Amino acid sequence: MIKVLLLPGDGIGPEVIAQAKKVLLHLRSEYNLKIELEEALIGGSAYDDCKNPLPDTTLDLAKSSDAILLGAVGGPKYDNVGRKLRPENGLLRIRAELDLFANLRPAILYKSLAGASSLKPELVADLDIMIVRELTGGIYFGEPRGIRTLENGVRQGFNTLIYDENEVTRIAHVAFRIAQKRNSKLCSVDKANVLEVSELWREVVESVHNNYKDVFLSHMYVDNAAMQLVREPNQFDVVLTGNMFGDILSDAAAMLTGSIGMLPSASLDSNDKGMYEPIHGSAPDIAGKNIANPLATILSIAMMLRYSLEELDLADKVEQAVQQVIANGLRTTDIADKHSAIGTNEMGDAVIDALT
Ligand code: NAD
Ligand code: IPM
Ligand code: MN
Repeated sequence: MIKVLLLPGDGIGPEVIAQAKKVLLHLRSEYNLKIELEEALIGGSAYDDCKNPLPDTTLDLAKSSDAILLGAVGGPKYDNVGRKLRPENGLLRIRAELDLFANLRPAILYKSLAGASSLKPELVADLDIMIVRELTGGIYFGEPRGIRTLENGVRQGFNTLIYDENEVTRIAHVAFRIAQKRNSKLCSVDKANVLEVSELWREVVESVHNNYKDVFLSHMYVDNAAMQLVREPNQFDVVLTGNMFGDILSDAAAMLTGSIGMLPSASLDSNDKGMYEPIHGSAPDIAGKNIANPLATILSIAMMLRYSLEELDLADKVEQAVQQVIANGLRTTDIADKHSAIGTNEMGDAVIDALT
């Protein structure tokens, strides 16, 4: 039996996970997917329960599960909670504790959604980019960090952007291998014109490239990459980048596909054990209204089936069902464009209908 842990989290997290759960139960009853579901608290909901955004019970369950599906964490209610106890820190800790260093964020345009993209339809036609984001290092985790008071009484905030060559090597291998399975083009994004850490990043990526000579490697500064993403996104196949640059570029890439509510992700360790999550946050502005788009979370199930559960046919089926629903003109508010919108629940039901 495959153990899947559901971590709904906060805001729209529980709403989108409820849809994903329906889909998983449907795959179990109709397609004989042998899964056992468990649920646990993370983020603000865990903090409310026990003053800890990643309780030991949740972490233990996560470690003993075969795969994890997370909604989202965070919200304004926790803005003044100390950094270590913030909901976001629960998410960062589970990523670090499980060594989920490879974050895959595919930005794919579903054909009939071109009108919902913020770019002209011809610029996003057939868009299919894979962003490979390093997830357990860089400035998110670098020490020293903090806020200190200088001798002159001025307060100073500081973080450390740090990567060692082993961290760069392992994420580069992941990106090259993915590029080999796609169009064999890898663009590594950095800030090597300013930062030593990027200078080393570039050097290491170049040396890993010696193992993958069939892949065309290029390098781009992150400011240019942000510009190129909205100028001519189809020039990219696989994009490799660090933790913070990847966070920013993937939100921008999401909008090319119509909405941040469409982008799934996989966060993998070196054995392809993974946590799967939409790239969006808890969207406090729309939480509790049954209007959030659950498709990013449902598409994250497809990634889970593909990368961790070796259920490639079922992964295709889930993606085809989402494609079908979109082709049928069903839309949540965020991608409605000229269509009338349906709710979160109804979208979940529509995917299940399409699977049937
Ligand atoms: P957000 O992604 O939550 O929302 C940004 C905008 O996109 C909002 O207008 C929201 O309504 C919209 N949106 C997001 N997901 C949507 C969906 N599925 N359907 C329709 N519209 C959607 O980002 P934010 O507002 O900057 O952050 C809100 C909270 O979420 C913060 O506490 C932040 O730290 C947290 N966050 C968590 C994660 C995560 O858990 N992985 C990711 C990003 C942000
Ligand atoms: C994401 C989020 C997280 C990140 C936050 C909530 C810690 O923005 O998953 O993209 O920055 O990684
Ligand atoms: Mn983000």
